[in-house]
Amino acid sequence: MVRSRPAALPESAQAPNGAASLEAPQPDGGAAVWQRRHVLDLDDFRVDEIEIILETAKAMKEVLAREVARVPTLRGTTIVTLFYEASTRTRASFELAGKVLGADVINLTAAGSSIEKGESLIDTVRTLRAIGAHVLVLRHPMSGAPYLAAAEGDAQVVNAGDGWHAHPTQGLLDLYTLRAAIGPLAGKRIVIVGDVAHSRVARSDIWGLSRLGADVVVCGPPTLLPAELGSEHAAGLPPVAVETDLDRAVEDADAVMTLRLQQERMTAGLLPSLREYSRLYQVNEERMARARPGAPVLHPGPMNEGVEISAAVAHGARSLVEEQVTNGVAVRMAVLYLLRRDQ
Ligand code: CP
Repeated sequence: MVRSRPAALPESAQAPNGAASLEAPQPDGGAAVWQRRHVLDLDDFRVDEIEIILETAKAMKEVLAREVARVPTLRGTTIVTLFYEASTRTRASFELAGKVLGADVINLTAAGSSIEKGESLIDTVRTLRAIGAHVLVLRHPMSGAPYLAAAEGDAQVVNAGDGWHAHPTQGLLDLYTLRAAIGPLAGKRIVIVGDVAHSRVARSDIWGLSRLGADVVVCGPPTLLPAELGSEHAAGLPPVAVETDLDRAVEDADAVMTLRLQQERMTAGLLPSLREYSRLYQVNEERMARARPGAPVLHPGPMNEGVEISAAVAHGARSLVEEQVTNGVAVRMAVLYLLRRDQ
């Protein structure tokens, strides 16, 4: 297999302070910071690794702002998006990210592929590697599937969401979006509200926010919060504050991140009713009045408007929902670029 080495981004793609912005303030251009072959979770990311992604994403925003948003940086790289679950944002943004950087991008979903005939994940990974895939962007309903794919061969793997476990690029784009809106996150009170127990987004957000020093408060009905959350490294997560009363949780919050209520939780008996859930946990203007003035609201999507978030908040001045989607392209460009830079 011939490996392609990505070209450096053109100087004009770098942020105003030049290479330092693209590569982060590393004397060796960040090469010592970024040594990863895969992006599987944020739980083992150091602060400098997160910083280099967020700084690189800033330079990628400049590329995206051009009249013709195309650079040849990843020419010769083949990326396969392999999705065993539905997706709009993640799949589309990875595809666009790869194409803007000049990569060849192949999109595969379980429906319509040989996965429907029973082909295993490992055989699928081997097959894609055999056709020349350098990077696999994998979404799978089973937690840990991306680790299996990464261990299987020499393709680089990006976890695009695995079961309840992790969604690292969502976590990174949330960090980018939050920081652009409210500045440095150290000491900021960030509330994550909803179905935390079953949310891979919440887990990745908790890891990322904690690394950058935010004071994370998780809020939701006790049935939708991971057991023992709040104690030291409970449920494999860093320590966070826990609050089951949303009015108290949003008091003086710097930002609120609301999660999609997965409706199957209703049938599992984890909630009394949608109406009750909305009454207690919907993020609406009345509740947000308790937060700091102008505190933004984020949602990873897709939203159940009128359930976990009111339409007025979802589409109002506080909403960062569209910024999250827009920034997702730049952050995923940054991840793909860094992964391929030294291959
Ligand atoms: N946030 C997120 O993962 O959205 P999609 O399921 O549409 O990719």
